[in-house]
Amino acid sequence: MKKHFINTPAPSKAQLARLAIPVRALHAGHRAKVLDHFLKLNDDDRRMRFGTQTPDEVLKRYVEGINFNKDTVLGIFDAQLNIIGIAHLAYLPAVKHHSSAAELGVSVLPEGRAQGLGAALLGRAAIHSRNTQIDTLFVHCLANNRAMMHLAKKSGMRVEYAYGDADAYLKLPPANPGTIVVEAANEQWADFDYALKANLKHSNDAWSWFLGRPAVFTTKLFAIN
Ligand SMILES: CC(C)(COP(=O)(O)OP(=O)(O)OC[C@H]1O[C@@H](n2cnc3c(N)ncnc32)[C@H](O)[C@@H]1OP(=O)(O)O)[C@@H](O)C(=O)NCCC(=O)NCCS
Repeated sequence: MKKHFINTPAPSKAQLARLAIPVRALHAGHRAKVLDHFLKLNDDDRRMRFGTQTPDEVLKRYVEGINFNKDTVLGIFDAQLNIIGIAHLAYLPAVKHHSSAAELGVSVLPEGRAQGLGAALLGRAAIHSRNTQIDTLFVHCLANNRAMMHLAKKSGMRVEYAYGDADAYLKLPPANPGTIVVEAANEQWADFDYALKANLKHSNDAWSWFLGRPAVFTTKLFAIN
């Protein structure tokens, strides 16, 4: 009888570390929190994220226009259930005889940076892309965005520079049973993490009300707030 082997190499240490960070798929009910996240970015970060000056009004229109049914929006929540990191994966229009592609935008609030959240969002977006038959992932950013360039290269992306801009892209292998399981596990883990943080927050709020001052119970889950 012919044997079928499934090529699922064991995840590397770095991949396993990224999986420990709970990344949650967001829906339209999160729109206000998504806007809140973007409004907290300063002018420089907004320029890095969107490639140009982005006043509050433009951010509001951008967030209002996100189609959560078509695109994929991924978020990482802090202990106060604010979105500390976000990735917006927009599927590019299908072109006949061409493979499917998606463009990714990522941002992490300053207090969450350099803890692997950006890499976790990128990793989850890549795995989600594979599981939804996307074979090329693009990140467009300013060439002087050193943190993003570093992150892109570290994640195996190829970077091409032109006129002060940089396009990073990653050719993705097809999905396999391993990628499906990994994404499902991370989503379940993120649901559990969210429920835990929500309970702690409710408990904190109740004690703060009872004591008439902020309660001191805090969670330092994954060093996020
Ligand atoms: C880019 C961004 C998402 C990274 O988020 P993050 O959570 O800090 O990412 P990580 O912690 O996973 O990794 C950041 C890496 O960049 C490195 N880095 C940070 N600043 C750097 C700099 N100025 N030069 C080179 N590397 C830098 C960090 O050391 C880290 O690398 P390491 O893990 O090998 O030590 C975040 O800085 C951000 O939101 N910036 C503003 C928006 C933006 O630029 N978005 C990207 C365009 S779509």
